[in-house]
Amino acid sequence: MKRIITLLFCLCGFGIINVASQTVTEEDFISNLLKQMTLDEKIGQLAQYTYRGNFTGPDGANIPKEEYVKQGKIGSMLNVTGIKEIHRFQELALQSRLRIPLIFGLDVIHGYRTCFPIPLAEAASFDLAMIEETARYNAMESAADGLNWIFGPMVDISWDARWGRVMEGAGEDPYYGSRVAEARVKGIQGNNLADTATVMACIKHFAGYGAPTAGKEYNSVDMSLGQFANFYMPTYHAAIKAGAATVMSAFNDFNNIPSTANDFLLNRLLKQQWGFKGFVVSDYNSVEELVNHRYAYDKKDAAAKALNAGLDMEMVSTCYLTYLKELIQEGKVKEKTLDNAVRRILEKKQELGLFEDPFRYCNPARSAKILNSPEIRNASLRMAERSIVLLENKQSVLPLTSQVKSVALIGGLSKSQNDMAGAWAATTDRSKIITLYDALLQKGLEVNYADGYDLKSNRMTDLQKTLQAARTSDIVLVAVGERANQSGEKAAKVDISIPEEQQRLVSELKKTGKPVVVLVMCGRPVIFNEIKEKADAVLCTWWLGSEAGNAICNVLWGTYNPSAKLPMTFPAHVGQIPIYYQYKSTGRPTSLKQTYTASYIDYSTEPAYPFGYGLSYTTFGYSDLNVLPGKSPDIHAEVSVKVTNQGQRTGEEIVQLYVQDKVASVTRPIKELKGIQKIQMEPGESKTVTFPITNEALGFYDNEMNYKVEPGEFIFMVGGSSNNLQQITFTLK
Ligand code: BGC
Repeated sequence: MKRIITLLFCLCGFGIINVASQTVTEEDFISNLLKQMTLDEKIGQLAQYTYRGNFTGPDGANIPKEEYVKQGKIGSMLNVTGIKEIHRFQELALQSRLRIPLIFGLDVIHGYRTCFPIPLAEAASFDLAMIEETARYNAMESAADGLNWIFGPMVDISWDARWGRVMEGAGEDPYYGSRVAEARVKGIQGNNLADTATVMACIKHFAGYGAPTAGKEYNSVDMSLGQFANFYMPTYHAAIKAGAATVMSAFNDFNNIPSTANDFLLNRLLKQQWGFKGFVVSDYNSVEELVNHRYAYDKKDAAAKALNAGLDMEMVSTCYLTYLKELIQEGKVKEKTLDNAVRRILEKKQELGLFEDPFRYCNPARSAKILNSPEIRNASLRMAERSIVLLENKQSVLPLTSQVKSVALIGGLSKSQNDMAGAWAATTDRSKIITLYDALLQKGLEVNYADGYDLKSNRMTDLQKTLQAARTSDIVLVAVGERANQSGEKAAKVDISIPEEQQRLVSELKKTGKPVVVLVMCGRPVIFNEIKEKADAVLCTWWLGSEAGNAICNVLWGTYNPSAKLPMTFPAHVGQIPIYYQYKSTGRPTSLKQTYTASYIDYSTEPAYPFGYGLSYTTFGYSDLNVLPGKSPDIHAEVSVKVTNQGQRTGEEIVQLYVQDKVASVTRPIKELKGIQKIQMEPGESKTVTFPITNEALGFYDNEMNYKVEPGEFIFMVGGSSNNLQQITFTLK
């Protein structure tokens, strides 16, 4: 903020303020601008409206948007896309008295024009460099088409796969989720917001949105502060420390106060304690929804409660626009509070370079060069390969060999460009998506296709044709799962099982005696016990985006040896939810042999597939687990382990470190992930992997949210899945 910059040109250019000297600090610039703003103009900066369509909710703002922009009554627009439209809106903003440019935001969740795997799939790669790279490309394509703000990453931790929005996050673990959050923020924002290849990130949804009661969308969230601090808060905090420019408040209430008007969350935790300097935007209509929460009497009360709690910008609803002036005149909101919110927004406009050149993101030549470029598509392919999780591979039926000349391809999902794009890909060029069907044909294979089941009713169709396709082919590939729009926002489910007849179809196909490989296409953990039992191989292929088909083929034929692991537990029964690896011991620890323990009388407590699980075409052995003294004061110890590629193929392993605090002053989980390393090894090669043990690996938050590291015994566990670990103990003096 203290950087001295030459602003004479731009200030005069905008006719905003008179400056005596050639140089002015950025801070002075904003202060001078604020001094010139009327109350209406200030309030206008806090308003964000949607354009065209209802997108994620009704457009309650019944206002002439273009006219309001011209009058300086709007600070930001969402859902304006394409350089032409963005340019047009920006021109309107420059007709306002103070010529303050607009910020343009959009949900770019997994790619703008090029489509990347859904975020949960990317998280399965455990490849932080690659995750940062795709985030960088998301930003680059968005910025090339005029945008300067994307509403992501979503960093909500969730233990509940019924909640459809798990597809947008990084899964269940706060340590790993924090690393993904940092990578995505770095990728989206780079080092400099003014760089026209970057945009602002928006951390959402603050806070606890991933823990709605019963997995129901938009439902209440209630948890102890200790639970919040240890499991749900770390990802938001990590993203803020990584420099995220903006934060979105969540729809839900949090400990009985809606997040959008939650003084504890916004003013105290985010702004005061964490020192967040950016601005907070509400979620879609969530200021007005304070009335539905029955936390505000009316829209006016909602405006006062939200702004006083630290909510800077209102998305879509018009409570601020309509009532803030009155509220300030009545002394119910202080003008200082308004100024603080306006300042935060103007500062970001300045950091984006919009005062210098409001059209800097609207360059058609750059757009033509970047959108859908081969370089970005190539990244989409690499990411998609790294996101596919090999769940079953009985008798090593995979990888397929060149002996396979004909393939029975079953299931409409395998040829649906619409579904392959995933749930949140509004600006993606769907016609350019390579489906599995396309990719198999391009490989020159004989493809005997049959629908197998109806995509709407999920009932089997023409079983004889399907079985005939299988009998006349070398191998059977079956695409099962859910449609892309069955996960994402407003897609909560009470049953996350793959439909019964899809599962039975796999059993029928198995009777032909042909090897059956199942591709599970989904946006969340799904349940498929019959398939698990019957299929020869199962791959979780999520929704993989532009290069989905090619990536799946590369994994099927072993051009890419699968390396992904599950970032979220796959339950065996919907009644086990919420299910997660970091549960607590309880006073009556789960036991298969004893009754009166933490368990069920009618089902196992074991998931179908645990967190961190995923197979490869090779196997890895772990040996020589050791704890060595730390080499610096911040490092208490170093855990090392030797990992050996025991198979015949080059492969990548995700080495995982978990920690258990044996006894603590609050109850702690049986294990918590505290380190990951992705390594590549040739057949027969061994590598020693070392994890530093810092305070972060040993500490926790107590019930008053104080971070503590307590001396005593710890168990360090290392391995390639949360349920298959070697362990060693360590004492912190
Ligand atoms: C979602 C947000 C999204 C916003 C704007 C809301 O319904 O919860 O994640 O950014 O809409 O589209």
